Amino acid sequence: MASLVELKSVGKAFPRGAVEVTALREVSLSITAGESVAVMGPSGSGKSTLLGILGCLDRPTRGQYLLEGREVSSLPDAQLSALRNRRIGFVFQSFHLIPQLTVAENVETPLLYGEVPEREWADRVRACLEKVGLDHRSSHRPSELSGGEAQRAAIARALVTEPQILLADEPTGNLDTATGEEVADVLWGLHREGRTVVVVTHNESLAGRAQRLVRLRDGRIE
Ligand SMILES: Nc1ncnc2c1ncn2[C@@H]1O[C@H](COP(=O)(O)OP(=O)(O)OP(=O)(O)O)[C@@H](O)[C@H]1O
Ligand SMILES: [Mg+2]
Repeated sequence: MASLVELKSVGKAFPRGAVEVTALREVSLSITAGESVAVMGPSGSGKSTLLGILGCLDRPTRGQYLLEGREVSSLPDAQLSALRNRRIGFVFQSFHLIPQLTVAENVETPLLYGEVPEREWADRVRACLEKVGLDHRSSHRPSELSGGEAQRAAIARALVTEPQILLADEPTGNLDTATGEEVADVLWGLHREGRTVVVVTHNESLAGRAQRLVRLRDGRIE
């Protein structure tokens, strides 16, 4: 099957003063549509850097990134962010919800920058909140949610643009075990519905539910 995502010998270096920190070295990885992948590895091994490149938040400094066969690492910023908005949903460890907005308004935010007609927004937001079991919390503020609810709201927000790829960076890292399981159930449920899901995690039980495990060490795939 054709790859949805293909990294070819990708490297990433960050300038730090006179020296450079190499976060990724010669990473080659191909992910097919509908696959689920867990990424594990010690702190500092490059997991978030890898996810940032897959999600077009950042660019490789070496190698190629093909998304649906198209080289994206050299696209201009505006095109790269448009691509990210259309194709990619992101979930972070610390939720990144906007405290002043309601849950529904938070879920709606990615639509402000996309191409979905405004008349469809309310239905989309409602459908995504139902999917994560949070429709009864739509007018609450993030501060009124439990950790698990906040993460489910963040997942709804990641889904609202109907992205092909869902990327999650330690989505259960701030949650207790039982709540983490709930969030894992939601994520793997989305995979069963056909989405491509890539999860960075230190949690063996979460990772064990992915079809494939990628281990990073010192910026390389083991
Ligand atoms: N913006 C940046 N500028 C400079 N160095 C960075 C930057 N982002 C990451 N690094 C460095 O790149 C390396 C990999 O970092 P990364 O955040 O990808 O690790 P990680 O595997 O996600 O770790 P953790 O499990 O602690 O989240 C580290 O040495 C880090 O210090
Ligand atoms: Mg990280």
